[in-house]
Amino acid sequence: MINDKMTKALNVQMNKEFYNSRLYLSMATFFHDINMDGAASWMEKQAEEETEHAMKLYNYLKDRGARILLTEVPAPPTSWASPLAAFEDAYKHECDVTKEIDDLVELARSLKDNATLNFLQWFVDEQVEEEASTDAVVQKLKMASQGGHCALFFMDRMLGER
Ligand SMILES: [Fe+2]
Ligand SMILES: [Fe+2]
Repeated sequence: MINDKMTKALNVQMNKEFYNSRLYLSMATFFHDINMDGAASWMEKQAEEETEHAMKLYNYLKDRGARILLTEVPAPPTSWASPLAAFEDAYKHECDVTKEIDDLVELARSLKDNATLNFLQWFVDEQVEEEASTDAVVQKLKMASQGGHCALFFMDRMLGER
């Protein structure tokens, strides 16, 4: 039987992951709007992954016989000052998510909920990748910004290959 406090916290995280999906989808529309279709496709794939994260939490709550509650998902931002600003936001956002996951781990530990602790390890590993992949794009965009439009064009093509 899963603890009420843990159930509540996992429900909050599930809803946050649905928000994360919408945030990246909003970034995708921003990139389509400025004709960077490669970056847009990168963001669409990222949005899909975030929905998968939400569904992992959904299925875990279901398996534990916990009540699942879908709440209102806030509207994400719709525009950014530049391609770099969008990816910098993505990186910062992933760092915040890592903190959220760490807090969930702490809660599971304090409740001696080993099943949830074990379940959360996947998210701990995933966040290492999420921070690394968004930061890698930030660093490359910084390089590309010194190379003008041509560098940005090739960067966009590379992002489309994800
Ligand atoms: Fe996520
Ligand atoms: Fe993420």
